Amino acid sequence: MAQRMNLREYIDKLRVEGYTVRGATEEDPTLIAPDGSAVETWRQGYPYDELMDEVVYEQQKYDLQVELLKLQYWSQDVGAKHVIVFEGRDAAGKGGTIKRFTEHLNPRAARVVALNKPSSTEQGQWYFQRYVNHLPTAGEMVMFDRSWYNRSGVERVMGFSTDEEYQCFMKQAPRFEQMLVESGITVTKFWFSVTQDEQRTRFALRQIDPVRQWKLSPMDLESLDRWEDYGAAKQATFDQTDKKFAPWTVVKSNDKKRARVNAMRAFLHQFDYEGRDDTVVYAPDPKIVSRAKHTEG
Ligand code: ADP
Ligand code: AMP
Ligand code: MLT
Repeated sequence: MAQRMNLREYIDKLRVEGYTVRGATEEDPTLIAPDGSAVETWRQGYPYDELMDEVVYEQQKYDLQVELLKLQYWSQDVGAKHVIVFEGRDAAGKGGTIKRFTEHLNPRAARVVALNKPSSTEQGQWYFQRYVNHLPTAGEMVMFDRSWYNRSGVERVMGFSTDEEYQCFMKQAPRFEQMLVESGITVTKFWFSVTQDEQRTRFALRQIDPVRQWKLSPMDLESLDRWEDYGAAKQATFDQTDKKFAPWTVVKSNDKKRARVNAMRAFLHQFDYEGRDDTVVYAPDPKIVSRAKHTEG
């Protein structure tokens, strides 16, 4: 691959050349080149020629949200417990997907957990301990916006934990998840997958748009320039933690809308809840959603 500019140089270049943002007031803005054309980095390796149609998206999202509610009622009736892990590179669309999952759910039985970096007390504890505190009770759905997989992701790449801690984590993560599953908690693990140029575009949008700047942390800036390291960390995570009882579901996320509805469908399709509408909840699009490569055992 050709040598790339780092993100700061790239954003300076965009400013100087007169790139702008279209739809800054909307959820999914577009980066516009000086000649007026849209920057379409989402096309990189993407299996469709068009982004998902807005009207189709809104309808499907709504229908799937109705199904999520049915699942929620049913889970409360039967005492089902759900954990959903949202992982992926920075700007992959985890937060935006979680927002759509929770939009119409009853917040009493659906929680989002987004933990800060571990405090010194937490650093002295068993690594999984602070996550255990947030596990669901009967009838609850808990969504982890980043999760214990920080240890094999950002901590691995940035050197925040030791080799020994990392090896211990890789051994324990499947055992931990197996215990959750044996205790009647369903474990769904999503990896939102974005290509390098699209990640760069999303970072640039965040940098150019004042209301998005908080989303661009120093860690994010760092992550773009460590693309390969994060890729290797991801592959090792898949190799060692994709198990039959807790598989990784990879969601191609260059088109955020298609990613969101397919993630909802992938989650719902696992369950045979009361009143499921099979014209809404069918198997997710195999061009968008796939099981991570794995070696069992
Ligand atoms: P986010 O992308 O979630 O807004 P950041 O990009 O700042 O947040 O950080 C990415 C992840 O790295 C977060 O889950 C954060 O808790 C974690 N992290 C940041 N600094 C450290 C650290 N020193 N040790 C462990 N984890 C950290
Ligand atoms: P990831 O976020 O690691 O799951 O990767 C997201 C996507 O980027 C995958 O579809 C990869 O095939 C693709 N990809 C990985 N590395 C590169 C690269 N250097 N250039 C373009 N695409 C890449
Ligand atoms: C991320 O994946 O880093 C963000 O949550 C993306 C988003 O804003 O949806």
